[in-house]
Amino acid sequence: MKKHVLFATLFLWLFSTLASAQEAKPTNEFAFVGTQKCKKCHLKQYKSWKKTKMASTFDVLKPGVRAEAKKKAGLDPDKDYTTDKECLPCHTTGYGKPGGFISIEKTPDRAGVGCEMCHGAGGEYTKKQFMSLKNKRYKRADLVKVGLVHPVNEKTCIQCHNDKSPFYDESKPFNFKELKNKGTHKHFPLKYKHD
Ligand code: HEC
Ligand code: HEC
Ligand code: HEC
Ligand code: HEC
Repeated sequence: MKKHVLFATLFLWLFSTLASAQEAKPTNEFAFVGTQKCKKCHLKQYKSWKKTKMASTFDVLKPGVRAEAKKKAGLDPDKDYTTDKECLPCHTTGYGKPGGFISIEKTPDRAGVGCEMCHGAGGEYTKKQFMSLKNKRYKRADLVKVGLVHPVNEKTCIQCHNDKSPFYDESKPFNFKELKNKGTHKHFPLKYKHD
């Protein structure tokens, strides 16, 4: 009988230790907040980004759009790909992740390659104590710990610009230096020091 109690206690202890270890595990999955939130404080970057092809990557999934290119790549030009889970991860913001794109009706501002696909999901780093008007002189290193991607680098782009894209051109591998300024947005100097 006593042995039973001992085993039961041991089991409970082991179980609760494992469970709390799981809870305490740091998560790298910060939630997406959407481009409209970034726009409030970064209107210049937003306006410039809006003109890039990356802002409208959702639209090319619609039937009839870029029909010739789709035919060439072996896709059906008349098909509606706007709900296709094969395409959405590279043509929307945070698809399948917390706070990310679900559908154009539910999450219209997560359509296209939004700010957070390059700068990191903003659920944590846009809180008051990090990047905010109350804390304009934030330390960049503190933000990087909670999800800000800095500097935006080649790895960021290659999540999507790789041979899983039906349009990837093997003869023209992704050239970060050349495309960094073409594909992103105009850059404006920061006012404060963040080092
Ligand atoms: C409440 C205002 C506010 C919001 C919302 C906001 N930011 Fe910022 N952000 C700032 C301020 C202030 C700075 C520092 C500006 C400066 O130094 O001139 C900044 C700086 C940045 C920088 C430069 C980082 C560095 O230190 O090199 C990036 C990138 C950035 N923001 C991206 C974003 C993105 C992406 C979002 C949305 C997810 C966002 N911001 C939302 C206020 C905001
Ligand atoms: C791995 C990421 C990824 C996936 C998955 C993906 N795309 Fe793309 N798509 C891209 C990138 C990056 C480009 C820009 C061209 C390039 O470098 O491949 C692109 C370009 C396009 C274009 C423009 C082509 C042109 O020449 O005008 C269309 C249309 C398109 N994708 C549709 C789709 C459809 C439909 C699917 C699903 C069947 C899909 N994509 C899946 C990343 C992806
Ligand atoms: C979430 C996926 C994703 C990420 C991340 C991404 N891109 Fe793209 N990019 C696309 C898709 C999809 C297109 C195709 C748009 C179209 O054809 O209309 C595209 C198109 C472009 C274009 C336009 C190409 C043209 O034919 O004019 C440039 C330039 C570009 N990306 C550069 C970059 C750079 C630089 C980065 C990293 C800093 C990056 N992209 C990150 C998905 C992505
Ligand atoms: C395709 C990638 C990409 C997307 C999408 C993108 N950015 Fe950037 N952003 C960059 C790169 C590259 C830099 C240069 C600094 C660096 O290397 O980190 C930058 C720099 C910035 C900066 C610093 C100041 C400046 O103007 O250089 C801010 C603020 C910023 N981005 C905000 C935004 C906002 C807001 C959005 C969405 C409306 C956005 N970005 C979308 C790639 C991107």
